[in-house]
Amino acid sequence: MPASVSAAIRAAMLESDPRAKVMAARKVARDWRLGRLAFVFDEPMPDQPGWPDAPELLPPGRMPRRRKAGSERGRIALWHAIGHIEFVAIDLALDMAGRFGAEMGEGFVGDFLSVAADEAMHFVLIDRHLRTLGSHYGALPAHAGLWSAAHDTRHDVAARLAVVPMVLEARGLDVTPLTLERVRAAGDERGARILQRILDDEIRHVRFGANHFADVAKRLGAVNGELWKVLVSRHFRGTLKPPFNDSARLAAGLSRDIYHGVA
Ligand SMILES: [Fe+2]
Ligand SMILES: [Fe+2]
Repeated sequence: MPASVSAAIRAAMLESDPRAKVMAARKVARDWRLGRLAFVFDEPMPDQPGWPDAPELLPPGRMPRRRKAGSERGRIALWHAIGHIEFVAIDLALDMAGRFGAEMGEGFVGDFLSVAADEAMHFVLIDRHLRTLGSHYGALPAHAGLWSAAHDTRHDVAARLAVVPMVLEARGLDVTPLTLERVRAAGDERGARILQRILDDEIRHVRFGANHFADVAKRLGAVNGELWKVLVSRHFRGTLKPPFNDSARLAAGLSRDIYHGVA
């Protein structure tokens, strides 16, 4: 009898060492793909994943001011901030699959475990890049708020999909091309290639979110865009800020009419 997928996901979420979490996330995605895990949800997801002692997590107001963008320290701060987003994204994807998989089905589990494996790879690429700059993940403080969207939507898959892939990851589609241009202009071609790969993968992540959200809306008999607006206004504390990357959003299946109405 193969192990339950929920037990494997839970174990990966509870790993606090970044390298161990990366290995565990990639292994659970691979084991699922190869049919080595059973579609059984006998283990609850943790409310708080395992995280390392460093980086120190600070509320947004206490984060040190960004250095000048072109300086060496400014570059390290930028990559460290992106690395932290990717690290938390591993747990966001694992939690999506493990918490809502029973209700959403096998295709959903496979989609979000593949996202978890992508996020683990993004984190590895960035940590490696930080090391070429003489730093590493954990060397600087990081933003404490990134898990709150998961925590606030832990009882409702529609709310989770509306906020995490369709707002937060979609915002990544808007801002990454600008960061990529700045990184390339500064002569960091390897960094630019990492960001291009992340951008390509994130389009697929947002698309998984949008597709599964559409399925939930249909099951609830709701109008997709209307339900999304209600859930975003109820569960997302920020604002949706233009400029939007309309072409990447369209490629991900997000309709312009909807998110422009909320901005
Ligand atoms: Fe990512
Ligand atoms: Fe992602």
